[in-house]
Amino acid sequence: MKSPFQFGRVVVGDTFTDRSFEIKRLKANIENNVHTMLISPRRWGKSSLVKQTALHLEKNKKIKFCFIDLFKTRNEEDFYSSYTRAIIKAISSKTEEIAALAKSFLGRLTPRISLGTDPLNDFEITFDMKGMKQNYEDVLNLPEKIAEKKNINIIICIDEFQNLGHFDEPVLFQKRLRAVWQHHQRVAYILYGSKRHMLMHLFENKSMPFYKFGDVIYLDKIPTEDLKTFIVSSFSRTGKVIAEEYAGQIAAYVKCHPYYTQQLAHLTWLGAENCVSAEILNQAVEELLNQNSLLYQKEIETLSNIQVNFLKAIAGGVNQLSSTVVIKEYNLNSSANVTRVRKALEKKEIIDVVGKKIEFIDPVFELWFKRYYSGVDSK
Ligand SMILES: Nc1ncnc2c1ncn2[C@@H]1O[C@H](COP(=O)(O)OP(=O)(O)OP(=O)(O)O)[C@@H](O)[C@H]1O
Ligand SMILES: [Mg+2]
Repeated sequence: MKSPFQFGRVVVGDTFTDRSFEIKRLKANIENNVHTMLISPRRWGKSSLVKQTALHLEKNKKIKFCFIDLFKTRNEEDFYSSYTRAIIKAISSKTEEIAALAKSFLGRLTPRISLGTDPLNDFEITFDMKGMKQNYEDVLNLPEKIAEKKNINIIICIDEFQNLGHFDEPVLFQKRLRAVWQHHQRVAYILYGSKRHMLMHLFENKSMPFYKFGDVIYLDKIPTEDLKTFIVSSFSRTGKVIAEEYAGQIAAYVKCHPYYTQQLAHLTWLGAENCVSAEILNQAVEELLNQNSLLYQKEIETLSNIQVNFLKAIAGGVNQLSSTVVIKEYNLNSSANVTRVRKALEKKEIIDVVGKKIEFIDPVFELWFKRYYSGVDSK
């Protein structure tokens, strides 16, 4: 029997839980043509949420989803080319139709289509790259034109959107996108990515073109009760048993972090032949720490001594980091230094400041740090 838990990939269907509030909000945005920007720390489920919402709307033939991942996109030309291909592929799989669409809306870019072994699903479309940059408005208007012609709405979901920040003239490029996209009536954009600070810079900075482009959703963690139900039912679906109490402990260990919940639940599932015991769960936690240990060790190596001292203070539950006693006890130098270190660790996405509280972003890193680094065992 295969494990019912998945981590490290986009999850949908049985492996996806809850998010009913976010799905509802995203659906409302889609139906009302409002653009959405999705922000969360790493691995909280942005990509999965968008895919799951698309599945919910699958039956509506008037809405077409188009997925673009900018993971490898490094410049403007790459962008135009992935954008065009993704849109055309999402709209049609019929070669003649694709050729006709490309010709009527992108004629100036001399599109060429070459077929693969399966002509219905496998084709490549290439353009004159120089023309692509000169006629970027044609390219950026492509989805709107197609949507008008086919009387549909197109939802363009762009993952790793922050990569635009690495282009040669990032702000100019973003201005171009916004200038064209804001006139679209039948196209809504969902923009998200894995680098929260970069995305926040693009979306929240008043001087940036994508400031107030649409509805910004800050994804929350999944509530404990939903995770508990999810874990219990996934065990039972695969013929194994976990008591609610242990399911709750799994969620608590990883502070309801969606990725780690699935990883720890998976390790517990693997360890349990039948029924989960306290010992099996403890072993799974050890395994979780072991599996991530190398990664965390590397992370620590990038930190200065004073940054590590700062983390020790946080791990020790200290909140008044600028107090003289704390500065002395944890070797933090001075209160100006404390502020600098805090900012650096925030930028590295190791800690988060929530209200007045400073927290580790990665709950398993926190567990590991407490156990192996600062000697403070959290159990
Ligand atoms: N709704 C959910 N229900 C259950 N597990 C989830 C859910 N959303 C995410 N996960 C878990 O978290 C993992 C990461 O999800 P996903 O890749 O969607 O996150 P992300 O925010 O896009 O990550 P990144 O920041 O790396 O882009 C998934 O592989 C899965 O294990
Ligand atoms: Mg993602």
